[in-house]
Amino acid sequence: MNQQPFLGIRIGFALTGSFCTLSKVVPQIAQLREGGAIITPILSFSVRDYNTRFGDRNYWRDQVSRAAATIEIIDTIAAAEPIGPRALLDIMVIAPCSGNSLAKLAAGIADTPVLMAAKAHLRNNRPLVIAVSSNDALAANFSNIGTLLNRKHLYFVPFVQDDTELKPNSLIADWQLLAPTIAAALKGHQIQPIFCQQTD
Ligand SMILES: Cc1cc2nc3c(=O)[nH]c(=O)nc-3n(C[C@H](O)[C@H](O)[C@H](O)COP(=O)(O)O)c2cc1C
Repeated sequence: MNQQPFLGIRIGFALTGSFCTLSKVVPQIAQLREGGAIITPILSFSVRDYNTRFGDRNYWRDQVSRAAATIEIIDTIAAAEPIGPRALLDIMVIAPCSGNSLAKLAAGIADTPVLMAAKAHLRNNRPLVIAVSSNDALAANFSNIGTLLNRKHLYFVPFVQDDTELKPNSLIADWQLLAPTIAAALKGHQIQPIFCQQTD
């Protein structure tokens, strides 16, 4: 088996404010790096700035930095802009992608480092992978998911309804499928099924 399936691939790994899922996502960053990827972390303003019950901002910044093995973190709109003209990334991932960032992406708004990075990256016609994590994904945000499913160069990490009893409108990406989704997106394919059975 190929131990380094992402050897030399430059991945922009963007995190947005689904704070409860950061602990699931950080190990995926480390796994991609161990698979040979060169990771550029990108933080939304909320991940950069908020202290929440899931951990304070410095803790998560440090966790991301260790997982990616870099202290170079993009956390301003100005720092994200060169991703476009300098073609800095082979692929970009937004994981977790909050309902807020999902809606703005669908509307063409670029007012955070993550959204600016996505806008800059997409101008180069390169793949963008989205890993949804939102309580309103099947409500206010469902139309935005539909819009983005229909957009070129965008790929979704398959998602599940994580709590049909208490959060019937919630969808969450299957983190185990993040790396396979990236591998397929690099070849221009969306892995299926997009609505999947929970595996973890
Ligand atoms: C503790 C906490 C947990 C949150 N969890 C989520 C979440 O899981 N999914 C989501 O879409 N928004 C969640 N939010 C709301 C977002 O953080 C908020 O909409 C923020 O503006 C997102 O900005 P960003 O997309 O630029 O990171 C949470 C907020 C807080 C304070």
